[in-house]
Amino acid sequence: MKRILWGGATAASQYEGGFYDGKGLDTQDCRRWVPRLSTDTVQTRLLTEADVQRAKNSFPDDCSFPFRMGSRGYEYWESDLHNIMSLGLDIYRLSISWSRLFPTGFEEQPNPEGVAYYDRIIRALVNAKIKVFVTINHYAIPIAIIDRYGGWRHRDVIDLYLKMAKFVVNRWRDDVDYWLPINEINSGYFSPYNGLGIIGSDDRNYDYESVFNGLHYQMVASALITKYGHETGVRGKFVCMVSCFNYYALHPRPEDNLKLVHDEQINQWWCADVLATGEYGYYAEKFLNDHGVVLDVTDKDREALMSHTCDIVSFSYYSSSICSVDEKREQVPGNLVATLRNPSLETTEWGWQIDPIGLRIAAHKFFDRYRKPVMVAENGLGARDNVDSDGRIRDDYRISYFERHMAQAELAAREGVDIEAYFVWGIIDIVSAGSCEMEKRYGVIYVDADNEGRGTYRRLPKDSFYWYRDFIASHR
Ligand code: BG6
Repeated sequence: MKRILWGGATAASQYEGGFYDGKGLDTQDCRRWVPRLSTDTVQTRLLTEADVQRAKNSFPDDCSFPFRMGSRGYEYWESDLHNIMSLGLDIYRLSISWSRLFPTGFEEQPNPEGVAYYDRIIRALVNAKIKVFVTINHYAIPIAIIDRYGGWRHRDVIDLYLKMAKFVVNRWRDDVDYWLPINEINSGYFSPYNGLGIIGSDDRNYDYESVFNGLHYQMVASALITKYGHETGVRGKFVCMVSCFNYYALHPRPEDNLKLVHDEQINQWWCADVLATGEYGYYAEKFLNDHGVVLDVTDKDREALMSHTCDIVSFSYYSSSICSVDEKREQVPGNLVATLRNPSLETTEWGWQIDPIGLRIAAHKFFDRYRKPVMVAENGLGARDNVDSDGRIRDDYRISYFERHMAQAELAAREGVDIEAYFVWGIIDIVSAGSCEMEKRYGVIYVDADNEGRGTYRRLPKDSFYWYRDFIASHR
């Protein structure tokens, strides 16, 4: 059985802060800003130049805004890497901030300060013999692209993405072990603003045409950067990633099980099928027709998707989901979408259902479907932590969560699933992507900051830090 790489992950917009040194505004920087513009019209219009100026002018007075502070990783990266090294991680997953390299997305040359920042981090990881996993784009899209194109709803965004992605792949071509073109590519379906930069598609007014074309353009862009990497002999492997929901039927009745099949097809497999097999699932045509969507697919798109599929499939896993034709059941929150309550599971403080065995089931499903190595790209527990008077953070709840989930990943590997790597999400405390708060903590390293950006930003190892360190050492 091959050894699983034990890792940790962060995302630029949630970790870095550093809203200076040439970084441009991106969709994450403006998340809180957008709703403030107007209470009811904002969902249906694009940002204007005046809006952007107001957002820019709000810094630094408004620097308490969590995403603009992140964990201040732009300043603390060196000591963070030092901690990561003492943890003994096999692999570290970081993301590149698009608007730090290309502030508006339209520049021809990258911002040298941004390049130097990632040079330093990647060099330090390579020197420490920690494998490097680079997410080329994790949610944050330059606001100028939203202004001009309304996000990924426009085909031209493929070229803007490719300019940035080719620069990234070329620059660190000998240093990076794994490349992920786009984080949780199916998230655009559930969260069009985060995933695709599409404003104006919400629960009440869901714009299937823009969303499914946006997803298509993202998948073509992923295939084209994979093609570029493969054809230019880049060392690292190319990974695709979706958010995993792992549905169970509420009842054994056939209707619930049929719904399970359909829900997984659209919510979970849609993008993974295209990126791992090169073509849309057999079920896609009916779904698109039913929703009146005409996909803008060219012969060149088809060729790119088919000839350059991913080398590895990955998924984020936080909980399993329940589906039923009976919609009046109690709902609970989850990553990206709410689901029905599973009476046999406990929940986190944020109401997400905890299901370690679900991770093992999901690993089987992914491997069985694609027969490519599988990565658990994210897994972790968002919880409130307390620093005790002796300076210790006794997060035994997080240790228990990891123990149970990692054990299931190992069992899946023993049962024959080819598991390449497992990543603790938010290895260091970062701002939550979903609820935009610092106090929902995932890390094994604590960051002393609250939701308003108050605090020293001092780093402290939690009890889970020592537990994970020993776990990794005992798996060498
Ligand atoms: C994943 C995202 O969906 O879930 C991360 O890739 C995110 O960016 C993670 O942080 C956990 O979600 P949240 O909302 O608790 O931060």
